[in-house]
Amino acid sequence: MIARVRPARRLEGEVRLPGDKSISHRALMLNAVADGEARVSGLSDGADVASTAGCLRALGVEIEDGRVAGRGLDGLQEPAGPLDCGNSGTTMRLLAGLLAGRPFPVTLVGDGSLSRRPMDRVTAPLRLMGATAETRPLRVGGAAPLRGVTYESPVASAQVKSAVLLAGLSAEGQTTVVEPAATRDHTERMLAAMGAPVARNGRTVTVTGPVPALSPLDVEVPGDLSAAAFWLVAAGLHAQAHVRLPGVGVNPSRAALLDLLEAAGVRVARLRPRMAGAEPVADLEVGTATAGRGFAVAGTAAAELIDELPILAVAAALLPGTSRITGAGELRVKESDRVAAMTAGLAAMGADVTELDDGWEIRGPRHLEGARVASAGDHRVAMALAIAGLLADGETEIEDAACVDISYPGFWDQLEALAR
Ligand code: S3P
Repeated sequence: MIARVRPARRLEGEVRLPGDKSISHRALMLNAVADGEARVSGLSDGADVASTAGCLRALGVEIEDGRVAGRGLDGLQEPAGPLDCGNSGTTMRLLAGLLAGRPFPVTLVGDGSLSRRPMDRVTAPLRLMGATAETRPLRVGGAAPLRGVTYESPVASAQVKSAVLLAGLSAEGQTTVVEPAATRDHTERMLAAMGAPVARNGRTVTVTGPVPALSPLDVEVPGDLSAAAFWLVAAGLHAQAHVRLPGVGVNPSRAALLDLLEAAGVRVARLRPRMAGAEPVADLEVGTATAGRGFAVAGTAAAELIDELPILAVAAALLPGTSRITGAGELRVKESDRVAAMTAGLAAMGADVTELDDGWEIRGPRHLEGARVASAGDHRVAMALAIAGLLADGETEIEDAACVDISYPGFWDQLEALAR
C-alpha cells in the first residue's frame, strides 16, 4: 500500500490513541501465567499485540474479549509447533525469558525483519541462568532448572531486562539485572502489583524466585505515548494546531519526550494526572510551538526516547538550529535500520541531515517538499514520514505504508480526521 499525505491548513481535534503496546504485551503475558482470571481493557489493537495473544493461545491460554484465563507458570502447555512472533521483538524476547524455565522446548519464529534482529542479547543471560537457549532459530526451554544470577546487561534494553526477570520467576534464588541506562519499567511495576517479590534500586532490579504464584491483575491499558509522539510533533510544528490526547501513559521511564519537546519550544500540557493501576496517566494537550529551537539527545537519554527518535528527527529538520541525536546505535537493530531509513526519507524531502553511526546531526529549519519515500516496512518510520509529509509542501507518498498496523491501525483515519 502507498499512502499519500498532503499538508493541512489546520490540525484540530481529539485523538483516541491505541493502548500502550509495551503494557499490552505484559498485561497478556503476565496474566497468562497468573493463578486465575483477569480483565484487560484498552489493549493495543496492533498486530504486534495480536502476535503475543496468538503465541499465548498456542501455549493453551484462553484469551477472549479482554479476559485472560491465567494458567499459572506450570500450567502452560507445550505448543504444537513454533510460536509465530510476527514482527514483534517484544513478543519474542519476553516470551523467550518467560518460557526458558518450562520443562518443554519451544521454538520462536518471526517475519523477515524479526529474524534478522539480534537475539543473543537474551539467550546469553538465559544460558548463564542454566537454561538451554539457542539462536537461529530461537529455541528455549527443556528440562534444565534455572538459577538466579546477577546480570550486568551490556545493552540498555527493557526487553532484555524483562526477559531475564521473567526467567527469574522460575529460577532458584535472586535474579538481578543491572542496566547501563534506565529503560521502561512496566514489567517491574506489573510484577510487583501481582505480588511478586521485586526490589528496585536505581538501575538495579531483583526478583526472588521461584515465585509460587502471581495474582491475576485487571489492567486498564493507558494510551500509547509513543503513538502520541506523532501528534505532539505534528501539532507543535504546524502553524495552526490544537490537539487533545486523553488518557495517555506518562510513566516517567517513558516521558522524557515531554520534557524534550518542552525544551524545544513545544509545550505539552498534562491535565488530570492520575493512576491507572500501576501506571501514571494524564490527558495531553498541545498547540503550535511559540519559539521552537533545535535540541540535543546524547548518551543514556537515547534509551528513554528510543521509539520516539524517528519522529524527533522530523522535528529537528523543521526547528531552527542544529540538533544532534547520538547514543542511539540501537536504532539500527529495530524493525528496520531506523537511522538509515529516516536519513533517506528526510533527505529526499529536502532536510539537511547527516547520518552518524549512532544517530543524526540535523540542521534546521528546512522547508520540506513532498517526495516519494520508503517506510522500510517499519511502522514508526512510515508514521514519522507521514507527519513529515503533513508538514511539507505538496504530496508525499509513503511506500509500504500498511506496516503502521503493527502498532497503530487507526493512524491514517486519525490523520484524516485531524487535518482541516
Ligand atoms: C520495548 C522496549 C524497547 C522498545 C520497544 C518496546 C518493550 O526495545 O524499542 O518498542 O516493550 O520492552 P528495547 O528494550 O530492545 O530497546
